[in-house]
Amino acid sequence: MAFTINSLSGYFHEYQKSVLDPAGFWAGIAESFHWHQHWDRVVDWDFNKAYVRWFEGAKLNITENMLDRHLFAHADKPAIVWEPNDPNEDHRVLTYRQLHSAVCSFASGLRKLGVQKGDRVVIYMPMVPEAAIAMVACARLGAVHSVVFGGFSSQSLSDRINDCSARWVVTSDGAFRGSKTIPLKDWVDQALTHCPTVEKVVVFQRTKENVNMQEGRDLWWDAVVDSSVTDLPAVSVDAEDMLFILYTSGSTGKPKGVVHTCGGYMVHSAYTFQNVFQYKRDHIYWCTADVGWITGHSYIVYGPLLSGATSIMFEGVPTFPDPSRFWQVVDKHAVTHFYTAPTAIRALEAFGNEPLASTHRSTLKVLGSVGEPINEEAWHWYHDQVGCGRCPIVDTWWQTETGAIMISPLAGITPTKPAYATLPLPGVQLMIVDENGKELQGNSVQGNLCIKFPWPGMLRTTYGDHDRCIQTYFSTYKGLYFTGDGVKRDEDGYYRILGRVDDVMNISGHRMGTAEVENAINEHPKVVESAVVGFPHPIKGQGIYAFVIADLTDRTEANLKREIVHTVNNIIGPIAKPDKIQIVPGLPKTRSGKIMRRILRKIAEGETRLDALGDVTTLLDPTVVEAIIAGVEQNKAG
Ligand code: WT7
Repeated sequence: MAFTINSLSGYFHEYQKSVLDPAGFWAGIAESFHWHQHWDRVVDWDFNKAYVRWFEGAKLNITENMLDRHLFAHADKPAIVWEPNDPNEDHRVLTYRQLHSAVCSFASGLRKLGVQKGDRVVIYMPMVPEAAIAMVACARLGAVHSVVFGGFSSQSLSDRINDCSARWVVTSDGAFRGSKTIPLKDWVDQALTHCPTVEKVVVFQRTKENVNMQEGRDLWWDAVVDSSVTDLPAVSVDAEDMLFILYTSGSTGKPKGVVHTCGGYMVHSAYTFQNVFQYKRDHIYWCTADVGWITGHSYIVYGPLLSGATSIMFEGVPTFPDPSRFWQVVDKHAVTHFYTAPTAIRALEAFGNEPLASTHRSTLKVLGSVGEPINEEAWHWYHDQVGCGRCPIVDTWWQTETGAIMISPLAGITPTKPAYATLPLPGVQLMIVDENGKELQGNSVQGNLCIKFPWPGMLRTTYGDHDRCIQTYFSTYKGLYFTGDGVKRDEDGYYRILGRVDDVMNISGHRMGTAEVENAINEHPKVVESAVVGFPHPIKGQGIYAFVIADLTDRTEANLKREIVHTVNNIIGPIAKPDKIQIVPGLPKTRSGKIMRRILRKIAEGETRLDALGDVTTLLDPTVVEAIIAGVEQNKAG
């Protein structure tokens, strides 16, 4: 497409253009896509009301840009290459022609089940091509998908189904993940006992295990697919119609449904995919994320398919059957672009260089990182050992809410610096502010990261609760979008993301609100109160540390801790399981009853000196802190 930047001066030029004339800049990019009707206005906005509109008046269907348009130029090019969990099982290739007809057949089947424009469909699937087919089929009909990560528990699933009143769920009998088989359909059955809106469940057969099929409600995928229809006309929707909802954790207990719309998200995900990765026609691109996260949406499905790329979809985990699996897959499929999370890099680095030695990785050109700050050591191992020093690293900063990459080097163009996401992409106007919202100008500053002008891929609302969107993102600093991240701009104007400054943890690149984990812990009948903080973890980036007040009269401490872990696992899922639980006699609270997490964070980091904990004079009962520290020491001794 016509918008790929190919030099550093080109980047600066485009960046300038995007700031001086944002509407002209994005309109120029949007012109490369197929629309049914042109927009009346490029952008209209008021951050105080969380009001953002891009390409208003335009009509389109995003799937025509992902599928139909490629049928002329390269129908037989692989669109999705699927690599199964078990390396002995055959991989699958879906060309653009095959993907187009699979999407049309499934969309037609969904339509026969009643799915129409604007309807919400929940997708709870393993990493199989059918997950992507289901997403794109929804978009074909103008329906709204909400993908729920297959690692979430049945309760998380039912909460998400109920929040958007979905009437359809697409799932599978089960999932293979490493050496485990996960009974997804059982979890769906449990979830649906609390979901009165759900009418039909479509079940893809993956594990072929015996599952319960409820008469009248549950249908096999193969029975729904309408193979007589291989070319279903796409439903024309407005640029600002919803494309998908994706739930994400925040500072409060309840996940928010982040809403993305069709036109802006299309333009932004494709623009960033092509520029950041410098994707060229014959490249083979692999993003290791799960489609249950935004990374999977934007950089396995939408960005790559919009760009006519070959996107690898991997069902398994980095260490199965052994820690050379990623590199085996790179060699097997001649991968040129590899995009993963720092937690995976650190986990593999821990096995040393031997797993690398059996592979050559000579096809690799670009390495990507996403999801959390990458520490310098991991950056160097990735660069020097995985990429043999040949491949630039793109450290891409963005969020579920931003829809697409915001700060990143352009591969091979922007000079990189370990652990720096470097520079904002064109169209991204950053601002660093101090606690009072005062802008910190110039270089060599550190503060909170905000964005002052809208971008096409940004969230439009939080589903069903627009006030919450205003409160969460646009109220901390007036007139600005607040990211929740701390950031440093160094002497060269390069950005380094320092991590969350709110009550959100980043566990293995997954976002988890402290309140959400606390709510789950508090469900245990013997728990009186709890406070959760993140602490530095060598592989996960952050681990979860829970301070818990509990009634121990009829349980041992060890048993109670096990039960708490189990409770959290059942309510949220394995990713939210606390790494450390400490039973405490009290929590450090201010006189107004607020828990001072700052103190708990220090203790969780290993600080045991009272005088190093900062100001404790506002505490209602300072002796609580001494007791907690004594408990840490005891835990260690024990
Ligand atoms: C949070 C967003 C969208 C990517 C997947 C995570 C952290 C993301 C980086 C990076 C440092 C990063 C931030 C952000 N984060 N990328 N390259 N360097 N931190 O999406 O679950 O919405 O989480 O992930 O803290 O706010 P998410």
